[in-house]
Order: sequence, then C-alpha cells, then structure tokens
Amino acid sequence: MERRLLVWVSVLLSSFNFAFGADNVGLGSTFYTTKGNLAVVIDQDYVASLQVNILRDVKKIVEDTVRENLLRPTVVGIEVKYFPWISVTLKRDFLAAIIVANCEDTWNMYKQTSKNDILLIALTDINCPRLPVEALMIPIVEKGKEIPQIIMDLRVQNIIKWKSSALIFDSYLSDRSTDIIKALSTRTSDGISSQFQPMSIYLHNVNATKTGTQKTDSPYENIFRPYTKIKYNQFLVFSSQIQEVISVAKKLNLLDTFNQWLFFIPPTKEISDINSLTEGIVEGANIAFAFNSTSQGSCNQTILCSIEEVVYGFVKGFDKIMTEENSLYGMVSDEEWEALKLNKKEKQMGILNVILGVMSKSNKCTNCLQWSFKSVITWGQMFKQIPTVDAKPIKFNEINVGVWNPIFGIISEDVLFPHIEHRFRNATLKLLTYNNPPWQTIKKLEGGNDTQSSFTYSGIILNIMEELSQRLNFTIDYEVLPTDRNISDLALGSTYNIHPKAHSILSSESNEYFLGAVAVTIDDQENKVFLYTNPISIQKYAFITKKPEEVSRIYLFMAPFTFNAWAFLLFAMLSTAPILCFLTRWAPLENLRVRGLTTINNCLWYTCGALLQQGGQYLPKADSGRLLVGIWWIGVIVLVTTYSGNLVAFLTFPKFEKAENSLWDVLKLSSPIIYGLPNNSFFEIYAKVSGRQDFKEYVERATIYDTLFLKDVQEIQHGKRVNVDWKINLQHIIQREFDNTKECNFMLGREEFVEEQIGLIVPAGSPYLPIVNDEIKKLSEMGLIQRWHRIHMPDVHKCSGRSMAQHVTNHKVNLTDMQGCFVVLFLGTIVGLAAILLEMSFHNWNAKRIKKIVMN
Ligand SMILES: *[C@@H]1O[C@H](CO)[C@@H](O)[C@H](O)[C@H]1NC(C)=O
Ligand SMILES: *[C@@H]1O[C@H](CO)[C@@H](O)[C@H](O)[C@H]1NC(C)=O
Ligand SMILES: *[C@@H]1O[C@H](CO)[C@@H](O)[C@H](O)[C@H]1NC(C)=O
Ligand SMILES: *[C@@H]1O[C@H](CO)[C@@H](O)[C@H](O)[C@H]1NC(C)=O
Ligand SMILES: *[C@@H]1O[C@H](CO)[C@@H](O)[C@H](O)[C@H]1NC(C)=O
Ligand SMILES: *[C@@H]1O[C@H](CO)[C@@H](O)[C@H](O)[C@H]1NC(C)=O
Ligand SMILES: *[C@@H]1O[C@H](CO)[C@@H](O)[C@H](O)[C@H]1NC(C)=O
Ligand SMILES: *[C@@H]1O[C@H](CO)[C@@H](O)[C@H](O)[C@H]1NC(C)=O
Repeated sequence: MERRLLVWVSVLLSSFNFAFGADNVGLGSTFYTTKGNLAVVIDQDYVASLQVNILRDVKKIVEDTVRENLLRPTVVGIEVKYFPWISVTLKRDFLAAIIVANCEDTWNMYKQTSKNDILLIALTDINCPRLPVEALMIPIVEKGKEIPQIIMDLRVQNIIKWKSSALIFDSYLSDRSTDIIKALSTRTSDGISSQFQPMSIYLHNVNATKTGTQKTDSPYENIFRPYTKIKYNQFLVFSSQIQEVISVAKKLNLLDTFNQWLFFIPPTKEISDINSLTEGIVEGANIAFAFNSTSQGSCNQTILCSIEEVVYGFVKGFDKIMTEENSLYGMVSDEEWEALKLNKKEKQMGILNVILGVMSKSNKCTNCLQWSFKSVITWGQMFKQIPTVDAKPIKFNEINVGVWNPIFGIISEDVLFPHIEHRFRNATLKLLTYNNPPWQTIKKLEGGNDTQSSFTYSGIILNIMEELSQRLNFTIDYEVLPTDRNISDLALGSTYNIHPKAHSILSSESNEYFLGAVAVTIDDQENKVFLYTNPISIQKYAFITKKPEEVSRIYLFMAPFTFNAWAFLLFAMLSTAPILCFLTRWAPLENLRVRGLTTINNCLWYTCGALLQQGGQYLPKADSGRLLVGIWWIGVIVLVTTYSGNLVAFLTFPKFEKAENSLWDVLKLSSPIIYGLPNNSFFEIYAKVSGRQDFKEYVERATIYDTLFLKDVQEIQHGKRVNVDWKINLQHIIQREFDNTKECNFMLGREEFVEEQIGLIVPAGSPYLPIVNDEIKKLSEMGLIQRWHRIHMPDVHKCSGRSMAQHVTNHKVNLTDMQGCFVVLFLGTIVGLAAILLEMSFHNWNAKRIKKIVMN
C-alpha cells in the first residue's frame, strides 16, 4: 500500500517537474525525463587536516561542470546535494556519491552505499585498501610518495601472494621505510578482511656508505646468507645498488627457481638500465622490476582537480546513459520498455565506465603518476642458446607485466612472476631418450623417418615425462637415440649401463637438453657429469633356483613316524610279547593258562595282530593277562589313530626337499652349478664395496652373461644353474615359463638384497633439479608412479602361493601318491612267498630227518 503511494507520488512529481521545467524538445520522447541525484560529502575535519578549505570551491566547480557539460539540461537534470560532514545517511534515491574522507570513513561509507545501491566515488588517503570494483577509490597521492600505495595495491589485488617477505633497504627510500612496512603489514580492517593475507616481514637496513669499494665484503652477503637455508624466499628490494644485490644473490645461489625477487628501481637509474641488470641474472631466477614511468610534465594533484574530473566524468556518463535510454523509450512499447530499460545498477556501471574512461585519458590530475612492472623470462632460455666456446652470458628478455596508476591500481597484462605461476610457459624443451623397456618403450611406426612424430612413446619414464610436461607447462621434444643392443625378451631393461652416447651427449652438450628421460641406476655421484633426480623406482635383487623336488612317496607309509618312533614301537612289541607269554604261563590255575598264548611265537603274533586291529583267537583268562592286553589295546588305538591321521595329511600336502633360503645356501650347493649374473649389474659393483662376504663370493664365482638364452633358463629348471638378478626380472622369467607350460618350476630365494635406486638424469649445472625432484615427489605421493609400475611391469602373481593352495584343493590321488601302498603290498607278497618256500623246505628237511631217524 505504502509503496504504491510512493510510486504515485513520484510519478506525480516527475510530471510536475516536466510541466514546469521542460520545453518541448524532442520528438516522441518528450514524455520522458530523468533526474540524477548526486551527493557530495566532504568531511570538514579531514579536509582541514589537509590544510585546505575547499567546500566553497567544490560547490563552484561542481555547478560549473554540470552546467557546462550537460547537453540537454531540460531533459536530463542533475541535482547535487552537499554534506559537509561524514556522518550522513544517504537514502536510496541517490544515484551516486562523491566523498572526500579518510580511509576508515570511506570504508564505512562504502558499507552504507553498497547496501543502498549508491555508486561511491571516494577521494581518500594514500595507503588505503582499494574499494571493490563496483566503487571507485582515488587515493590522493603526492608525487614521490606513491610507493606505499603501490605495495598496498600489489597485495590487495592479489598480485603478490606472499606470506612473508624480506625487505631490503639502503639509502634509497630508507626514509620511507615505515610507510612501506605499514603498507605491507596492514592486516585487515573491518569490511576488507578477506581481501589479503597477512604477511610477515624481515627488515634489513643496509648502511650503503660502506658498500661500493670493497666488493669482497659486501654487506648484502651477511644479510642474504641465512636465506640460503630456506627454500621459498620472497625479497622486496629498495636499493640504489641493484647490480650488487643481484651479484651477491647469484653468488649465494639465491637466484634459484623457488625464490622471488621484486626490485624497485630508484629514479637515478635510467630505464634502459634494466637491460644491463638482466645480464647479471641466471637461468631459472624469478625476477621482476618496478620502475617509475611517470612522464615528465606538470600535473595538478589537488583534490579540486580530481573532483572536477570526477564530476565531469559523471555528467558525461549520466548524459550518455540517459540519451541512450531516451532514444530507446521512443521506439518501443511500454511492455518492451519495462523489460529493456536499465536498472539502477546498470546505469551506475555505465556511468562508472565513462568516469574511468575520462580519467584514464587525462593525465592532468592524479593520474599523471605511473609505475611500470617488468618481469624477466628466464626459464628454458639456456636450452635455446647455441653453445659457444666462450661462455657468453645468456640473454634474457623482459616482458611488460603491468602498469600502476593511482586510479586503477595495477592494470596487469600478465602475472608478475610468470614462472612461479606458469612454470615454463609452454616452452619447447628437448629430452634425450632411447628404447629400454619397460622404462622407455619407443617403437618406430611403419615407414616412419627419424622425426619425433614417427615414434610411439610409452613406459614408466615416458608416462612421468608426460605428467611432468603438464605440471611444468612445457612441450616435449624427444630426441631418440638409436639402440644397437638387442633387448632380450627374457629380461627387462637393465639400467646400470646408461647408453654411452647419451652419456657423452649429456656431458658435453648438456646445455641443449632439459633432462635425460632415461631410467638409470643412481650411483656414486662424484665422478659423474650429470645429476640424478630422486629415485622413481627401487629394484631389489633376488636369486632363482629350481623348485625343490617333492619327497618321493614310495616311503609314504613310513613318513608319519620318525625313525625313533618306529624303533620304539618295535621295541614295545618285542618286549610286550614275552611278558604276555610269561603271564599266561605262570597263571596259578591250570585252566587259566590259555594254550594259544603260552609260546613266545604266538604272543608275538598276537601283539602284531593287535597293532593291525585284528585281535586274536585267544584271550588271556587270568586278570593279570587281561590287564596287559587291555592296556596294549589302548596303546594300539592311539598309535593307529595318529598314524592314519598323519598319513592323510602326508597324502594331501606334498612334502618338499629343503629349499635354499639365502645366498649362502646357494653357494653351498654341492652339485656342479653355474652362478649367473647379468653383465654390468649394480649388484656386481655393490658387492665390491659391501662388507657382505656372500656377495663377494657369488660375484667371484659368477658367470657373467649379456643375454639370457632359453637354454640357460632350462639349466635353471634342471638345477644346474642359479641366477641373481632383479626380482622383477626373475618373476618375469617364471611368469613366461608358466604361460608356456602351466607349471611352476622355479623358486625365488626368500632373501632379497641390494636395493638399486633408479632415477632420471639432469645435466650438471641445471637449476631445475629441485623442481623436477619436487614433482617426482608429488607424483609418487599421488600414487601415479606406482600405478605406472603396475601397468608396465609384468604381472607376476600366477605362480605365487595362492595358486599353489588351489592346486592342493583340486588334487586327485594319483599313482605316484599310491606307489608306497603298492610297494608295501608287493613286499608283503614277496615275504609271504619267501616264507612259504622256507616253510616247505623246512618241512621237507624235517620230514627227511624224521624218516632218517625212523629208518635208523
Ligand atoms: C616518479 O617520477 C616522478 C616524475 O619524474 C617524480 O615526481 C616522482 O617523485 C617519482 N616517484 C618516486 C617515488 O621517486
Ligand atoms: C654507515 O657507515 C659509515 C662508515 O662506516 C658510518 O660512518 C655511519 O655512521 C654508518 N651509518 C649508520 C646509520 O650506521
Ligand atoms: C589546479 O587545478 C585547480 C582546479 O582545477 C586550479 O584552480 C589550479 O589553478 C590548478 N593549478 C595548476 C598549477 O594548474
Ligand atoms: C602455460 O603457459 C601458457 C603460456 O604462458 C599459459 O597461458 C598457461 O596458463 C600456462 N598453463 C598453466 C597450467 O600454467
Ligand atoms: C604449446 O606449444 C605447442 C607448440 O609449441 C603448441 O602446439 C600448443 O598449442 C601450445 N599450448 C598452449 C596451451 O599454448
Ligand atoms: C618425416 O616424415 C614426415 C611425415 O611423416 C614429414 O613431414 C617430414 O618432413 C619427414 N622428415 C624428414 C627429415 O624426412
Ligand atoms: C638382434 O637380434 C636379431 C634377431 O634376433 C639378430 O639378427 C641381430 O644380429 C641381433 N643384433 C645384435 C646387435 O645382437
Ligand atoms: C659386458 O659389457 C661390456 C661393455 O659394457 C663388454 O665389453 C663385455 O664384453 C661384456 N661382457 C660379457 C661377458 O658379455
């Protein structure tokens, strides 16, 4: 209800306005007029502190400007209201407000105006965080005092995102250091909190009078030395001796890929001197320069001048927006108009753009100050230079990264530290590589020539390279070395021996290559002409022997008991039988003496039969004998149960001969045997320096081979050979044999020894080793390197323990398992036959003897 009333009132008022104020100007558009309400707030206290009394002048300037620049004052009007104090409440019907106040009041006012949709244009102190883009802040900067504001803007606009910074001052600007520190250390004030991070500052003041003459003892050296121990440093240098600072930093290796340097160049230096400064720097450094690019000429840096400019811009902008709206109004229907007309926000943005346009074109007032930023492109430059005999310093180019002026702050064209943000910036870097599966698998395409595109690249190392090129933002240019050596398909690529050509190329013309994309063993660093990266893989050595044979099953029926157990059993039998016999014979009553048990022979058969659970025809009748027999039976039950239980187990789970578990076991093997070792293995080198006697002995006895042939593998299978190699290579052999024969005929020694570290190589002197190492660490933490290992290394699990267990469950009893049983049967038969022969011959002999006696 209230709102509708308001609308009506305002409609009435505007028609009133029109009726009394407007001539008939336009064609169809005469029914449309607009007023812009502008508030001008000038904080008297603040202006008084600036020691100017300007309220009256401001009024005059504003009115003059509006009058002179409004093209059609009858249609478009601007109503200006003045407030001489800051604690005002501006209503929604203001289109814009121009305020002159200190930083804090400006931000408070911004909170109010942004709530009420008022465009805020603020003239305020230097060293004030900028308002967000929907408002305009013009710091009143005195010439020569702009640096704190520049630094504030660097932080507020997130151009430097440093958490800490080392500040270096000498004679240049050391009197400004407090302002600069304030700009750097300002935390947050209300409303501007999230805009920038707090920064910790290390301040160094250099007594510049000491420098210059004695180069050997530069004061900068002491300042910079502690920073050599820290990885990420940021330096902000205000120095009149930049050249010296750079040379000291270079000497202390502080111009590396992690540190960032921002130099403010003093006005005494010519801008062209930047070229001479870049000559002192090195590949990989992150260096930016800021220099005063204010053009000579007079400029009027008073508040009045700025206000005049702002009001001029506002009037122009308002006029433009209104004219556009006006012409649109005449052309469309009312409904369309409702949809098309600009809302307040859009109008304000249009006006703000015009103001900014006006101010950036004029450099009469504040805008006459200007600073420029340049950055040096250093990464990947040394690879481009043609190596020369006289090591000429590399020429680095600078790029413009932005300019600063008081109105806009910093206008960036590029990031301030391009290599920190964009790494190599898509430079093309040369990588040296060669075929060595599974690390680098490089295959020539059908009919390809020797250009990069005629090869396919895969393998662990080349996967890493691909990821590295993404992360470090470079384009890969592979140079592939031809390999004359045959890669044996029985062994994976060894790494100890770096390709000799790669070795010589990387050591002599190292400048050309970013790195060697080859897997090599990380060795003694001393006498090497290149640097190793952190390991990307660790390979362990193991040995391979034939699988231990199963214990023969002929003696299976003997297996459940040890020799002692059998012996004692026999003893028990032999001793129980006479006792039984004795007990029966000496029973006190005649009828208790069972006839079948009175001879030792019979008792022996009885105990024997009881063992086989046969019982007997006779049992003792006396209690004494019964007790003995009963107890004997209990013993028999235990014995038989143990025996048959164990027999089942032995039948199900095959028993193997004792395996060689350590290298010593292998060396103790008695049969004539070949000890194989691949040529140029790290194991050989390691054994020489290690204290392990078994390694030394193995290497002494070893037969060195270049290629592993099938016959060698067969020799291993037959127990005539043992090989020491990477475990992964040995698993590969086992795997291949399993695939061919579906049998697991080999065994890996349980002992693993000598961890061989495998890494990439970087030319000596390359500044990029630390960042490559960092990336390798990240890739490894992300699990990518392990994943690529799994992809490219052979699958080695088919012949492992689990498949053996499965083998057992699926086992069917076969003839070899049963052979012992048949042997026993056979023996029994033989013994029986022998016994019958003996019995017959004894009988004959006896019969003859009796006959003889009878005849005699
Ligand atoms: C930048 O240059 C202008 C014009 O030469 C000069 O007035 C101003 O003081 C300089 N600024 C600094 C911080 O030296
Ligand atoms: C700087 O060094 C000079 C010469 O050693 C000395 O006279 C001067 O007092 C020093 N200034 C400061 C601020 O330490
Ligand atoms: C600076 O601008 C003000 C207002 O525009 C003017 O009154 C004054 O004369 C100007 N000063 C100079 C040196 O141009
Ligand atoms: C890579 O460099 C280009 C060229 O400078 C740049 O445009 C791009 O943003 C960079 N990419 C990354 C991921 O840094
Ligand atoms: C990087 O450079 C290569 C060739 O120099 C080009 O083909 C590719 O498009 C560039 N990539 C980007 C992101 O600029
Ligand atoms: C190699 O072959 C490609 C096309 O397959 C061709 O563009 C290129 O010129 C050839 N390079 C040489 C050195 O023959
Ligand atoms: C590589 O293997 C092929 C075929 O197996 C053979 O003809 C050739 O001589 C071998 N090359 C070398 C350098 O051993
Ligand atoms: C081992 O390799 C070297 C080259 O590194 C070669 O000279 C030597 O003949 C090889 N030894 C055997 C036994 O193949």
